[in-house]
Amino acid sequence: MSSMREGTHTVIRREDYAPPAYLIDTVDLTFDLDPAKTRVLNRMRVRRNPEAPVQPLRLDGEELNLARVLVNGAGTSFKMDGGQLVLESLPDGADPFELEIFSTCAPAKNTQLMGLYVSQGTFFTQCEAEGFRRITYFLDRPDVMATYTVTLRADKRQYPVLLSNGNLVESGDLEAGRHYAKWVDPHRKPCYLFALVAGNLVHREQKIISRSGTEHTLQIYVRRGDLDKTEHAMNALMASIAWDETRFGLPLDLERFMIVATSDFNMGAMENKGLNIFNTKYVLASPATATDTDFANVESVVAHEYFHNWTGNRVTCRDWFQLSLKEGLTVFRDQEFSMDMAGSPSARAVKRIEDVRVLRTAQFPEDAGPMAHPVRPDQYVEINNFYTVTVYEKGAEVVRMMQTLVGREGFARGLKRYFERHDGQAVTCDDFAQAMADANPDSELARLLAEFKRWYSQAGTPRVHASGQHDAATRTYTLTLSQSCPPTPGQPVKEPFVIPVTMGLLGADGRELPLQLEGEAQHAGTHRTLVLTQPSQRFTFVGIEQPPVPSLLRGFSAPVILEQDDSDANLLTLLAHDSDPFNRWEAAQRLTLRRALAAVRAPGPVQADVLDTACLDALRSVLRHPELDAAFKELVLTLPSETYIAEQLDEVEPQRIHAVREAMRSQLAHALHEDWVWAYEQHKDTGAYRPDPVNAGRRALAGLALYMLCLAARDNGNPVWPGKTYQRFKDAGNMTDRFQALQALVGSGHALAQEALQRFHAQFQHDDLVLDKWFALQAGQPDRGGHVLPLVKQLMQHPDFHLRNPNRARSVISTYCHSNPGAFHRSDAAGYVFWSERVIEIDAFNPQVAARLARALDRWKKLAEPYRSAAREAIARVAAHEPLSNDVREVVTRALA
Ligand code: ARG
Ligand code: ZN
Repeated sequence: MSSMREGTHTVIRREDYAPPAYLIDTVDLTFDLDPAKTRVLNRMRVRRNPEAPVQPLRLDGEELNLARVLVNGAGTSFKMDGGQLVLESLPDGADPFELEIFSTCAPAKNTQLMGLYVSQGTFFTQCEAEGFRRITYFLDRPDVMATYTVTLRADKRQYPVLLSNGNLVESGDLEAGRHYAKWVDPHRKPCYLFALVAGNLVHREQKIISRSGTEHTLQIYVRRGDLDKTEHAMNALMASIAWDETRFGLPLDLERFMIVATSDFNMGAMENKGLNIFNTKYVLASPATATDTDFANVESVVAHEYFHNWTGNRVTCRDWFQLSLKEGLTVFRDQEFSMDMAGSPSARAVKRIEDVRVLRTAQFPEDAGPMAHPVRPDQYVEINNFYTVTVYEKGAEVVRMMQTLVGREGFARGLKRYFERHDGQAVTCDDFAQAMADANPDSELARLLAEFKRWYSQAGTPRVHASGQHDAATRTYTLTLSQSCPPTPGQPVKEPFVIPVTMGLLGADGRELPLQLEGEAQHAGTHRTLVLTQPSQRFTFVGIEQPPVPSLLRGFSAPVILEQDDSDANLLTLLAHDSDPFNRWEAAQRLTLRRALAAVRAPGPVQADVLDTACLDALRSVLRHPELDAAFKELVLTLPSETYIAEQLDEVEPQRIHAVREAMRSQLAHALHEDWVWAYEQHKDTGAYRPDPVNAGRRALAGLALYMLCLAARDNGNPVWPGKTYQRFKDAGNMTDRFQALQALVGSGHALAQEALQRFHAQFQHDDLVLDKWFALQAGQPDRGGHVLPLVKQLMQHPDFHLRNPNRARSVISTYCHSNPGAFHRSDAAGYVFWSERVIEIDAFNPQVAARLARALDRWKKLAEPYRSAAREAIARVAAHEPLSNDVREVVTRALA
């Protein structure tokens, strides 16, 4: 099986890191591009690494056909060992020598989309993490940095555009209708940042002058016909460049910055130096085809990849265990960028809430499951399995806590120190934390650095238990915070974490109280950060007349589970008054979650009245609130997800959770009917489409209202709202309104849904990204008597379904297995059987996509019977399959352990 790695199942350990035996200073690559057989001539200047013991040179290679190896122009002996090319008789001494390797590869047959591949007639590369070895023999590790010269030769008519990193220095015609382009990248880089693109593409171009007065050319390359969908990405790129200069003093260091879009891509996007390659999903956006969420995602992914130019490219990772050094930091930066772009405090909070939702529904389960790993993992079998929410999103939370501990200015200072020390180097997470601490010597971070760094080394989500005691006689309030962290694979016992707990105290009337700790000369305002470092600590506030309402972990100041058994009355006070919008939202979540859990745990059939009047009234007053933003209201009125509810339980009955949440939705739909009508009417018109947070928030609320109105209509048979929804679907002036209306019809199971789906397909059948939505909407719809799985199978037979296209495969299969628990967890096990078949089927041609899908049953051990046994059987079936990629094997082996 060609896609399976040789030399299976070796565990790579962080502690085994050793510097490379050789260094490669320059690389000169010549490509003769041909889909069937591309010839690659690789000429390197290599020398022994003075810092490493003398040993043979072992070059990584995968699925290459080796033709010739020359050292200083002469043939040399070599051997092959587990895919590596081993050179033993190399020149002695410290002098550099020239190593020339000639090999070929087959891009058209590359279905893994790693290395050099062809997508819709265009050549693309993806080298992170270990794809460069599929292009040529190399020291494929991030601490080997070289300058690259790249010559591309290809048929001129089929591949008029030839791109690589850096600057175009030469181009021209060759014989037989071919042409060439020569690119030189002046920046030293690890090979995972190498890229080339060759094809028939068009581009949008923008010249900008940076602060220092230098001109830069920005380009976005897409397929003919997509150019009108690139304006938003270009604006996002310009905004990102300006933001990084203003906020962190980091300028664009390139004359030319290019983005290229491809519809076949395993991940979101890739930060290749000066030549970012993107999944079309995160570049293309037009009001008619993209939703507000798509617009926001394009903005943040463009920013993310651009920010990598400093955090990742100028300073890179020493080894792949340090991945969060660049990813956690860069996610933090793109989150901050999006918040700064959002503007108002309320819009910032909305972004924060959305980010925390991702953390809780994806990262917390990861941290509690078989794939749990520290932000800086200690071992892996397949590094691609560690591009995770833990490395990315929890990694970003770790960086955010540093900012909380040193302040915004202190953080900017720390980043400056980091670049002063490490520009041009391949470094570790320790180096980053050290620079932060050294730039802020008087901070809590510097004082507690060793303890703080446990966030990098210990897996698992810490639990913080909070309890308060008011003493009327001494007018004090004592808050006791204690922490613990459950065992994770390989880590039975955890040391205490450094946990910043940002907080406030409210009076019963909702007013914020001044916060003065015992022993302090004066109060420190009404909002402050306590730092929990011990297993248990007490904080005594003075001058507190009445029992206060604590508002803890404001802004979600640490990635922990806060356990606080305060009264409903307290939660209602927070929901009505907290000055911290995050905690206001959180109060509503906790109120509804509490009721959901009670209903799930209660004996007997699920009751219709899960939510009580007080809770419904509170939600109504948020919906009707004269001052709160629509976007915020939409978040408050959205119930905790089934996945989040499941995470709170020791034993999970997915069908019961689904039934309870559906009952709650239906209750909300009926009890607030008049309010939904009002909300819809008030927010349905947003004028000319603009994707800004205010307008997007109005559309989000109108969309939720419409959904609720269709849900209510389903129960009472009233055709008015479905009719209006269908009308809105037809008349919508933008994709957000149109898709929300379609969602409301499909989600409520209305008869008009079929007609609407057909119409939508006919209208957008030539737009892949819109079709992905069409597929996903159907695969993700609420299950009614098990109808979704047969539908999913039917969708896979649709002429527009293409299993080998990752976006399309995910739109149907991952949506069903990962995002539709009520439909996936079937008591007849058919969902799991389907899952195991698809994992095996996809693994045969794309292990990365298969391994992500394989994660859908991570939490099987929590399932109640009969789900649990059926899930174990399905996982075991995958594990027993031969052959299996390292990617999938690692996931299923850990799941069964
Ligand atoms: N570094 C890319 C990013 O911006 C992700 C690339 C991951 N690719 C992979 N094959 N694992 O986050
Ligand atoms: Zn990244």
